[in-house]
Amino acid sequence: MKAFKILPVVAFAFLPAVSHADMTGEQVFKGVCTTCHSAGVMGAPKFGDKAAWAPRIKQGEDTLVQHALHGIRMMPPRGGKSSLTDAEVKAAVHYMVSHAQ
Ligand code: HEC
Repeated sequence: MKAFKILPVVAFAFLPAVSHADMTGEQVFKGVCTTCHSAGVMGAPKFGDKAAWAPRIKQGEDTLVQHALHGIRMMPPRGGKSSLTDAEVKAAVHYMVSHAQ
């Protein structure tokens, strides 16, 4: 019967490890990137603006992801939210790119 007492404790101990499920690209965009990319703050390419995104997309999505992760000119690394995972930043880039083609 000891197992019944231990099991919930063990389950609880593992909770923090699984609590950070990656956000989708849309969630990351709406939570972080929208601040600059919706209004075009400091020359940020606007969401859905094909003309603004076309020359950037030409660099390749992998390059855009690198620039989003590490920052480029006025674009802060990870949009300024350092807690975002690489996968979340990548998903957000993909979300913006796929809405600007
Ligand atoms: C504080 C404002 C700000 C936030 C927040 C922000 N960006 Fe940007 N972003 C910029 C600016 C400004 C540029 C234009 C930089 C340039 O080319 O001079 C830019 C450019 C980019 C580019 C194009 C880079 C290139 O090589 O042309 C990508 C991709 C990008 N941002 C992704 C993101 C993602 C993903 C997020 C959210 C996680 C995000 N940004 C949040 C300001 C921001």
